[in-house]
Amino acid sequence: MRIYQEKDYNAVSRRAASIIAAQVVSKPDCVLGLATGSTPVGAYQQLVKWYEQGDLSFAQVRSVNLDEYCGLAPDHDQSYRYFMQTNLFDHVDIAAGNTNVPSGLAADPAEECRRYEAAVAALGYADLQLLGLGRNGHIGFNEPCDEFPLATHLVDLTPSTIEANARFFASAGDVPKQALTMGIGTIMKARKILVVANGADKADAVAKAFAGPVTPSMPASILQLHPDVTLVGDGSALAKLMEVKG
Ligand code: GLP
Repeated sequence: MRIYQEKDYNAVSRRAASIIAAQVVSKPDCVLGLATGSTPVGAYQQLVKWYEQGDLSFAQVRSVNLDEYCGLAPDHDQSYRYFMQTNLFDHVDIAAGNTNVPSGLAADPAEECRRYEAAVAALGYADLQLLGLGRNGHIGFNEPCDEFPLATHLVDLTPSTIEANARFFASAGDVPKQALTMGIGTIMKARKILVVANGADKADAVAKAFAGPVTPSMPASILQLHPDVTLVGDGSALAKLMEVKG
């Protein structure tokens, strides 16, 4: 595993964006696995800048997103489809038909999960999967549980995730209680994984994920078994991991 400790959020974002840009430059028709949450926003802003400067093109890129809230329409301002449009897709030359986000409005969520898993498989899974970390160690919306879920599935969000994400909604009661998420198996099939973490409230999750036991009660810990993981974080997010690793 490669670890980049950066001095602040801007530097984390630039480093992550450089790694994503390198993937796109080396394989223009790559499959990018993309993530939501506040952590990747700065990386997306940097990628948009490089696109605007003419240094980067997404014209042939295909993308697969990790997850979506159940019950939110694509144009709901807290849906992950909306997040991706407003933070990246609307500002670069990626073809609309080449972007994939699970549908939060599917009448049959289980069927939508099967469709989405098949769509990601048909693309050959991600060349590079970007991941943020939930405070409880979730990746995508794979919450702590008793066994690692393999494929895209419907998940009940934990109270801690609902509380953490309530800041984006009018109240915790407005946060959807369920989501569709790629499984741990789907994520692990990516050729490369890029994890971004920022701030002291991620320090525990980072340390447990990368220096603790591999267990489904800390979903990100599975990444210890992936052959190509890069972790980019600021000093506060990496502090506890560095204490353990020395
Ligand atoms: C959500 C997303 C995750 C993301 C997490 C952390 O729960 N489903 O993919 O990693 O939030 O978000 P943030 O980066 O805002 O801390």
